[in-house]
Amino acid sequence: MPMTQPSVPNHHAHFPGFAGPAGFLAAASMVPGGAGNARLAERLSELAAGDAVADIGCGPGTAARRAARLAAAVVGIDPAPVMLRFARFLTRRSAHPVRYAEGSAEALPLPDSSVTVAWSIASVHHWNDLDAGLQEARRVLKPGGRLVAIERLSRPGAKGLASHGWTPEQATAFADRCLAHGFTDAKVNQHGSGRRTTVSVTATAP
Ligand SMILES: C[S@@+](CC[C@H](N)C(=O)[O-])C[C@H]1O[C@@H](n2cnc3c(N)ncnc32)[C@H](O)[C@@H]1O
Repeated sequence: MPMTQPSVPNHHAHFPGFAGPAGFLAAASMVPGGAGNARLAERLSELAAGDAVADIGCGPGTAARRAARLAAAVVGIDPAPVMLRFARFLTRRSAHPVRYAEGSAEALPLPDSSVTVAWSIASVHHWNDLDAGLQEARRVLKPGGRLVAIERLSRPGAKGLASHGWTPEQATAFADRCLAHGFTDAKVNQHGSGRRTTVSVTATAP
């Protein structure tokens, strides 16, 4: 798709990625807090039996495992092998299989029009290239497929871990990029309160 605007730089695209023992600890630390966002993704995508889900930046696979209980097929995608190893370990006894694949938002290892839901939880702020990621999301989603991005709400000027999320302006910028890539019905919403507030962008593939 020809773009008339330059790629939007992402504010944690420079993050070196998760690896080694520190990456393993990071993966483990994401599990306890991940259930709330997984439930939110399920609700916002109106997940139903028969859906095919791509969890982009799946980390330890919390939301992917939840989706697998309901959806027909779930693939968790992450560029960090340590995350995928941990996710596979946590999924090993599940009655509902999840396929995990190494890849990034910018180069999804999925065929065209192969999923009905693509969600990305606490991950978009790490994508190296928002436009490439959105182009890929559009490519793999079937027409009418649902895109859901969820991030922690962060304050403008936040530093360190607190900046790993979206300000309202960044969420709106992402929604605008969704529209620029042909998605429709892009919506920004906030959920929860206090330090647990999250912000979501939902959009529909053309
Ligand atoms: C904060 S973790 C969130 C993991 C998981 N979604 C969760 O909520 O528990 C961010 C994840 O995004 C992944 N990630 C980083 N850059 C990415 C990219 N360009 N495309 C897809 N995932 C990426 C990281 O490896 C990491 O697993």
